[in-house]
Amino acid sequence: MTDRSPWNAPGAGSPEPGASPTRILVLGDTSVPNDSVVQQLRSGFPNAVLRDVCDSTAFEHALEQGDFDLVVTGQKLDWIEGASVARKVRSRWPDRLVVMYTANNGTTAAIDVPSGEFSEHEVEDSSVRKLTSAVRDALEQANGRRAVFEAETRFQGLYDSVPVGLYRTTIDGQIIDVNAAMVQLLNYPDRESLLRANAAAMYVNPLDRERGVSMTRRDGLLQDFEVQLRRYDGSPIWVLDNVRAVRGPGGRVEFFLGSLQDISHRKKTDEVLERSLESLNRAMKGTIEAMAVISEMRDPYTAGHQKRVAKLASAIAVALGLPADRVEGVRLAGLIHDIGKISVPHEILSKPGRLTTIEFNLIRVHPEVGYEVLKRVDFPWPLAKIVLQHHEVLDGSGYPYGVKAEEILLEARIIGVADVVEAMASHRPYRPSLGIERALEQVEEFRGRLYDSKVVGACLELFDSGFAFE
Ligand SMILES: [Fe+2]
Repeated sequence: MTDRSPWNAPGAGSPEPGASPTRILVLGDTSVPNDSVVQQLRSGFPNAVLRDVCDSTAFEHALEQGDFDLVVTGQKLDWIEGASVARKVRSRWPDRLVVMYTANNGTTAAIDVPSGEFSEHEVEDSSVRKLTSAVRDALEQANGRRAVFEAETRFQGLYDSVPVGLYRTTIDGQIIDVNAAMVQLLNYPDRESLLRANAAAMYVNPLDRERGVSMTRRDGLLQDFEVQLRRYDGSPIWVLDNVRAVRGPGGRVEFFLGSLQDISHRKKTDEVLERSLESLNRAMKGTIEAMAVISEMRDPYTAGHQKRVAKLASAIAVALGLPADRVEGVRLAGLIHDIGKISVPHEILSKPGRLTTIEFNLIRVHPEVGYEVLKRVDFPWPLAKIVLQHHEVLDGSGYPYGVKAEEILLEARIIGVADVVEAMASHRPYRPSLGIERALEQVEEFRGRLYDSKVVGACLELFDSGFAFE
């Protein structure tokens, strides 16, 4: 192996502060000294590291090491052709360039371009600048090629390593490109088999694709689209699809660029949670209904009263435009609004005729007893407070606390009106039914003073339009 001169010690620094000096491999004849070319390069590139190689062993070794940025070679050396040098360099180090000089003294030169051809540098005179300018062009090209190569490598690395499935498809669903995560997500044996598939055929519900495609075309974007696809083996998978429509110069959608994330685990958790919430909800409502049944079993004279109050109160809540969830709260509160009566002796509850003051006071504590029972449970509605306030009236003359107007929850105001109407319309141990007409007259008479005006209005309208308790 002959290195006529090893890597020469570079001059101080390099073209860019902090950058490594350019390493140039200068290939010359074995027999004829290459001094002229080396000298030109040295004066043109004082900071470069030059290495003069003049036989195939040294060249093969340098090729193996790859420790050069550029090769400068004669067109026809006594041990190798310049074109062969270019081919060898290109096959081993595709990002390196080769400059070939055609005159023995290196005053004419050409750069190896990626097409495999040498672009001739026209020589106008035999000055040193011809070779150095060819080398300078080559270095610029090499740097550009390297930057593109590195960017592509970085992008490809990122594209294949992100844990999110990335894809490009045509509008018709033909898959143009996918990354490794996408292949894994859909459980395909390899990238090629996924590229042969059609995205349109992967949708569990084909209408989902139509919806997604039309939204993407319209808005240019599709965000957080939850959809169910089929894997290679046909099994369904929930994914979160985010798509961007890429338009060509004419504004036409050229392709879709998107990402898929596996959300089957979250979907499963959501379903389990939803089921357990439903079951909890059912259990809670069942418990409230059981409480209603127990309280009415003790007091057969008011049996059905709570159920009928619940029916009227929830109808009023609907008529007032309350949201469904709040209506449900009114219904459940109605079902148990008299639960506190379990603390009142049975004899008093079923006593025919007038009650003594003591007996009446015993009955008056039932909203507080109901509150005490219900406040222990963390219901999603303020049931305890509604029950506590169901005998309060607007002017503060109600009980137990004599709170007024807006201090009384709307739900309690609704149940208060429904309670009065139902109680008067029904038979009681101490009196026969007064009839619905008399009951409605009563709430109308005290509308705005004792009873909420809007609630009374809704109640009257309900009966006008045929509402009945049974
Ligand atoms: Fe009551």
